[in-house]
Amino acid sequence: MGSQVNSSQTTYQSIPYHIGIIMDGNGRWAQQRGLPRLAGHQAGVDNIKRILEESVRVGIKVLTIYAFSTENWQRPPDEVRGLMRLLGLTIQRQLNQLNRNGVRILHSGRMEGINEHLQKQIRRAVEVTRDNDRITLNVAFNYGGRAEILDATRRIIQDGIDPDDLTEELFSQYLYLDLPDPDMIIRTGGEWRLSNFLIWQAAYAEYYTTPTYWPDFDEAELHKALVEYSRRERRFGRVPNP
Ligand code: IPE
Ligand code: IPE
Ligand code: MG
Repeated sequence: MGSQVNSSQTTYQSIPYHIGIIMDGNGRWAQQRGLPRLAGHQAGVDNIKRILEESVRVGIKVLTIYAFSTENWQRPPDEVRGLMRLLGLTIQRQLNQLNRNGVRILHSGRMEGINEHLQKQIRRAVEVTRDNDRITLNVAFNYGGRAEILDATRRIIQDGIDPDDLTEELFSQYLYLDLPDPDMIIRTGGEWRLSNFLIWQAAYAEYYTTPTYWPDFDEAELHKALVEYSRRERRFGRVPNP
């Protein structure tokens, strides 16, 4: 914190280590162009690469991207199938390049409900990239914050943890992944809600929302969010800095 960080375009007081992105607005982006919703999801996937690369340049170390929520199963079956297919195809097409570029891939969410073949592809992507350290791309897929908290609680009970021993730190260790909490949550598409994303981990994250639809969220948009972040004073319940 406090030290000057140079990016390709701007100097920031501080750069978030971990950003969570709620990639919203794919459907409206497509609708605006008279295209099917799935075309919007494809454009959304293409945009991940652009933001990932800029994030590496800027020095962000972890990106958690919300790709499919536990509530998204309630969408029309064709759209759900399309989203599942899109993840499989993306892994198939992009894994080698992501790996060569030093991207570590993680998955946050429930495996139950995802078809066996896609589960295998996800496990493989995580396995193949496990030693990479340029940036971590954590894909929240079949993810829900409440499901994550329930799953953690179940395992805590199964492990017979004494209620007196349960601390926030210990609880965090039972969440899906052992990552530092996100410093900032970005939501594209204009809504001001978390939609069940990282509800435990984002307790003190800086929230940023933009009306821009995810496929249009480019490097300049990311920099706008970073400028806004560097202006925020993170107090964590304390009094302001003198
Ligand atoms: C976000 O875009 C992507 C997923 C939820 C998979 P949407 O599909 O929610 O797009 P809008 O909100 O309908 O525009
Ligand atoms: C949040 O977007 C989930 C993802 C981006 C994967 P939604 O479009 O599903 O959220 P709501 O329905 O507007 O809350
Ligand atoms: Mg949406």
